[in-house]
Amino acid sequence: MNSDEKSLGLGSWSRRRFVQMGAASAVGLSVMNLAHASGEDSITRGTMIDIPFDKRSPRIAFIGTGKRGTSLLENLLAADGQVVALCDVVPEHAQHAASLVVAAGQAKPQLYTDGPYAFEAMLSMNDIDLVLVATPWSWHAEMAVAAMKHGKDVCIEVPGVVTLDECWEIVKTSEQTRKHCMMLENCCYGYNETLILRMVHDGKFGELLYGEGAYLHDLREELFSDNGEGLWRRAEHTKRDGNLYPSHGLGPVANYMDMQRGDRFDYIVSMSSPQRGLDQYRKEHLHAGDPRLEERYVTGDMNTSLIKTAKGLTITVKHAVSTPHPYDRINLIAGTKGIFQDYPPRIYLDGQNKDESYMPIDTWKQYAHPLWQKEGQLAAKIGGHGGMDYIMLYRLLQCVREGLPPDMDVYDAASWSVIGPLSVSSVSRGSAPIEFPDFTQSKWMQRNISAIATQA
Ligand SMILES: NC(=O)c1ccc[n+]([C@@H]2O[C@H](COP(=O)([O-])OP(=O)(O)OC[C@H]3O[C@@H](n4cnc5c(N)ncnc54)[C@H](O)[C@@H]3O)[C@@H](O)[C@H]2O)c1
Repeated sequence: MNSDEKSLGLGSWSRRRFVQMGAASAVGLSVMNLAHASGEDSITRGTMIDIPFDKRSPRIAFIGTGKRGTSLLENLLAADGQVVALCDVVPEHAQHAASLVVAAGQAKPQLYTDGPYAFEAMLSMNDIDLVLVATPWSWHAEMAVAAMKHGKDVCIEVPGVVTLDECWEIVKTSEQTRKHCMMLENCCYGYNETLILRMVHDGKFGELLYGEGAYLHDLREELFSDNGEGLWRRAEHTKRDGNLYPSHGLGPVANYMDMQRGDRFDYIVSMSSPQRGLDQYRKEHLHAGDPRLEERYVTGDMNTSLIKTAKGLTITVKHAVSTPHPYDRINLIAGTKGIFQDYPPRIYLDGQNKDESYMPIDTWKQYAHPLWQKEGQLAAKIGGHGGMDYIMLYRLLQCVREGLPPDMDVYDAASWSVIGPLSVSSVSRGSAPIEFPDFTQSKWMQRNISAIATQA
């Protein structure tokens, strides 16, 4: 087993299958479903598809009150979310977050700051219904599983979980505990994304054919910062070569295409450029003797992955965070009648203009999502990625308060997270195709489309 396979949970079954396939491995690897298609998996699993939240006004706890946790907290408070407990390994982070809760007029939340496993004591409390996890990536799965086992619904920050085994772990724990695990993919709630989703479902782009998403964000300064993500995220670039952060680009495209709801990701091929950006940046910014000069980065500066869906649609997903690039998620969807592409947002529909020029998205503002029509002004005022963070949390609270199923469930969380380990596997095998696991037990075929798309 190579080190990538080991760290990503691609165990002996994957290696065995690889050997069985022999020369055929160059044209296709069917590795992912095998580990979970026998043994304990023959026991009938439940499903979390279309299962509503327990209807209540949720008492909410946070694990991780750093930069993102604090921003989520501010947005949640603006949406009248009740925050009862906060956990962070850095006491000052939790205390600052607590001061925001008190300033919003709520009782001071309980703080849990006694070491990296303080979250376990917090999760054992009975006065918590919903937990938001905004910690470094390597903690997401463990914290989500612990929350569900303690009877709490849980939301994890992007990019979800890191390994294939972790994907299965959140799925099976959710099914066993009957608790939800949702990925906080805020980009699915952007103004443009929700407007385009409604146009797609109104047939404006015809039959969908292909899409493209990306995370192109120059993070070099942040990766070498002495606080926040600089303390842990750069290390991820020493561990594996693939797409480390797929869901901001992929999530909205997956929603346009109704993934897990009549179609599913079938297989992926992935390739990476050389890694140069972080080496060059540290050469220019670090002093001699800085221990970071000893690190060895393995993540290619640009990872490009291609996904084929069961119905034959294609999706390109890109990841580049270590080179100069203006911020861009591409966010493209195209069909037999037209195309939308973001940055800047523009639409071209068949026969629209004689000169084949795009039209601005505002031409179609009658498709603005009802959530944005109702809450857009406040969302823009609160901020948080142009308001999408507020809309996401407002909608999360709405789903729990009204006892609705989450817009994105554990199957979405697993199938968006798994791009990470599958892309690494493909890159390490010369871009061999790698099949996706079916986390839904074939139930993707009969599922309804997400409520976020159908909301009137
Ligand atoms: N959706 C978005 O737009 C978006 C934006 C930024 C970050 N994120 C995600 O949010 C998460 C957090 O990122 P961040 O920028 O806030 O990083 P950060 O380093 O600023 O915050 C992480 C926090 O987790 C705490 N922490 C670490 N280990 C812990 C443990 N065992 N128990 C309790 N607390 C612990 C740290 O002390 C810190 O306060 C990451 O998954 C990141 O990818 C998402």
